[in-house]
Amino acid sequence: MGSEKVIEEKKQGQALLTDKIDGNHKKLYIESYGCQMNLNDTEIVASILSKEGYNTTHLLEEADLVLVNTCSIREKAEQTVRKRLQKYNAVKKINPTMKVGVLGCMAERLKTKFLEEEKIVDLVVGPDAYRDLPNLLEEVSEGRDAVNVILSKEETYGDVSPVRLNSNGVSAFVSITRGCDNMCTFCVVPFTRGRERSRDPKSILEEIRGLVANNYKEITLLGQNVDSYLWYGGGLKKDFKNASEIAQATAVDFAQLLDLAATEFPKTRFRFSTSNPQDMSLDVIHTMAKHENICKYIHLPVQSGSTSVLNRMNRQHTREEYIELVDNIRKILPDCALSQDMITGFCGETEEEHKDTLSLMEYVKYDFGFMFAYSERPGTPAEKRMIDDVPIEDKKRRLNEIIQLQRSHGMLRMQEFIGKKYEVLIEGTSKKSDLHWKGRNSQNAMVIFEKGDEQIGDFVNIIVENCTSGTLLGKRI
Ligand code: SAH
Ligand code: F3S
Repeated sequence: MGSEKVIEEKKQGQALLTDKIDGNHKKLYIESYGCQMNLNDTEIVASILSKEGYNTTHLLEEADLVLVNTCSIREKAEQTVRKRLQKYNAVKKINPTMKVGVLGCMAERLKTKFLEEEKIVDLVVGPDAYRDLPNLLEEVSEGRDAVNVILSKEETYGDVSPVRLNSNGVSAFVSITRGCDNMCTFCVVPFTRGRERSRDPKSILEEIRGLVANNYKEITLLGQNVDSYLWYGGGLKKDFKNASEIAQATAVDFAQLLDLAATEFPKTRFRFSTSNPQDMSLDVIHTMAKHENICKYIHLPVQSGSTSVLNRMNRQHTREEYIELVDNIRKILPDCALSQDMITGFCGETEEEHKDTLSLMEYVKYDFGFMFAYSERPGTPAEKRMIDDVPIEDKKRRLNEIIQLQRSHGMLRMQEFIGKKYEVLIEGTSKKSDLHWKGRNSQNAMVIFEKGDEQIGDFVNIIVENCTSGTLLGKRI
């Protein structure tokens, strides 16, 4: 997740660029909205298309092909994409041979409807169908609309080496699972990204090896639910009938995968996202404690502090079980930072239940937070079976209350860093001053300090001297 302290909607969407490949002559303009997973998928798409003769461009006007990787998580995310399509439409008037494709979750959700609703769209491709892009583009070049939204039980793109788009050359994402089996009632992801699959650990370690050889210093392992990672030869986890069958296979779980990666690459930092509370095992926490190079930061979405709301959301844990997990993390990893996702105004949420969220936040005092007002999504269990009955003004007021509270906790956590020493990985020049570096500590807090003769990608020991609400100010030691 981002380094912003408190955000309501993440800012995204810009032309993504990579180095030019000689001999490629077609121009691809590609944008990505939504989660980190989408960004990594966009890198996979760019890799597949570079073999088809495409180089990326940041000029929409000169593109032969425009692709937008979309997000469906909230209505607002879909509206943003619709606005971008209007912009592409205006450009197509100047450049009529330009083709436009929609990728990702909105493509999966709306399927052929997209072609009816948005006349500008030539190509609709769901998250599991990117290998088919060369064929689909062939169809489009012959004047036909092309659609592939088939979801897969196997696809992990394990053998596709993503091209790193807009990379700082220091941090990279590596996908380890795809899809989600959890069926939280509010969430559209299981419908747009399909069933959960884990990727072969061999191909994960191979990709990390390549990144390390290219001087990458920090790898974030990605999945909708990384803690439920389980490899036993491919396919769906639920194809195995019972635990002993899984145990008999030579299985690798998330704690083991982390251990393998952190052991083989001791100089590389590892992060991971996202952890689902019900799946986060003590083994994972102990593995984090065992390796200094696994960052002490856990994004642990909870959505609500009320057991009854969690139950309506089909989250598989209670408030008390979540608190027990947090207590275990604090015990085993005393310097670990925690962040949350919260939803206000879910179906039937009472003022009492909202207060439970506030009190859980008081208990945990998260370092960061990503907070949203509930947005009903078509086709989800909540849309089918429940009533979106919390008035918008209550949703917004409650959202505002949790944002304010998170702000104060974030500030408190920032102040706790003052006077302490941290290893910081330099990511680039500070936005505000050319004379300062920016980089993050293990806890994912952004640190700014005066430049010396070190370079981007170096690890530097820093003592924190001061802070603002979003940044630590430090000095080299
Ligand atoms: N496990 C995923 C969760 C993806 S959705 C991950 O990798 O992070 C990210 C967050 O969006 C969720 O944790 C939830 O807080 C929020 N969200 C999902 N569906 C939503 C909806 N219908 N309305 C509002 N917020 C939603
Ligand atoms: Fe969505 Fe719940 Fe999975 S939030 S991505 S269904 S863990």
